[in-house]
Amino acid sequence: MSHVTPKSKPISEKRVDLSVRIGKLQLKNPILTASGTFGYGDEYAHVVDLSVLGAVVTKTVTVKPRPGNAPTRVAETASGMLNSIGLENVGLERFRSEKLPRLAKLKATVIASIGGETPEELETLLGALGNEPGVGAFEVNFSCPNVAAGGARFWADPARLERTLVGLRRLTDRPLIAKLSPDVTDIRETARACERGGADAVTAVNTFVGLALDLDRMRSKLGKATGGLSGPAIKPLALARCWEASGAIGIPVVGSGGIVSGRDALEFIAVGATAVQVGTATFVEPEAATRVLAEMRTWLAQHGHAKLSSLIGAVQAPAAQEPAKPHA
Ligand SMILES: Cc1cc2nc3c(=O)[nH]c(=O)nc-3n(C[C@H](O)[C@H](O)[C@H](O)COP(=O)(O)O)c2cc1C
Repeated sequence: MSHVTPKSKPISEKRVDLSVRIGKLQLKNPILTASGTFGYGDEYAHVVDLSVLGAVVTKTVTVKPRPGNAPTRVAETASGMLNSIGLENVGLERFRSEKLPRLAKLKATVIASIGGETPEELETLLGALGNEPGVGAFEVNFSCPNVAAGGARFWADPARLERTLVGLRRLTDRPLIAKLSPDVTDIRETARACERGGADAVTAVNTFVGLALDLDRMRSKLGKATGGLSGPAIKPLALARCWEASGAIGIPVVGSGGIVSGRDALEFIAVGATAVQVGTATFVEPEAATRVLAEMRTWLAQHGHAKLSSLIGAVQAPAAQEPAKPHA
């Protein structure tokens, strides 16, 4: 790992430029909400000024509304939580007619998360939403661990990811962000496939498949056996995946996994993330994303960094750490 020497002379917080860019989308700062942990955004408008966030990433929307999985759908674990929500959402039509107009009134920058069981479903969603004025970018959820069809395992195939993104690329001029699962042999392979397919960025990472047992009842604590693990428990795992992905591709990486503080967010930026998402922390503290933003700004000012973007990838992944390719 290479290091930059931290600058020491503090500057005024007002001088800190937090802006970053994902494809054509200019963000005023790199703090995003994580899909599925902030509703569609409008539910939080009474506690959080959505317009101060870099962007709101909405709950993953599918073509048809989904009721999600049977309860129990969340379980607390050591320093984290397991969820098996299963993409409960209002469906494309209500998302477009109800949610997007509300978010526009709240002056939120919107990244719409879309999910599908097949490439064709994703194409239907982008065909309908691809030119919506209220959407700044799309995050394609290629990584839900909680659905029977079209989940993380289905989308773990690099060739399928690449083909699908080539098809989606034709349907919108907005940035396409591919959200990846950490549960793959090598995230560099899926990240590279997304770049080849025309994605503007990748998000690393979604939740890790986990299982919590109720030993007395000899059954899973969730209605569905396994769920997705999130929260501080996964931060070092997510940070490593983010570092690996950003060392392997030339497009931006959005970091996600266990971020609860400004320092956490800056660690993801330092290993190569251009922006970060605050997820599970919001369940503990609804204003978590704006606090993370304030803490990040304070740290940068105290350390004399006038430009956040100059810290992106300050700790680089050396190419030499690539595993050797097996001989044919
Ligand atoms: C209850 C819950 C629901 C989630 N729903 C979605 C979703 O609909 N789409 C998606 O891409 N990720 C979803 N996620 C994953 C988060 O967006 C995030 O990537 C993950 O939780 C790791 O970040 P965190 O540790 O900060 O929560 C969900 C996570 C949780 C905890």
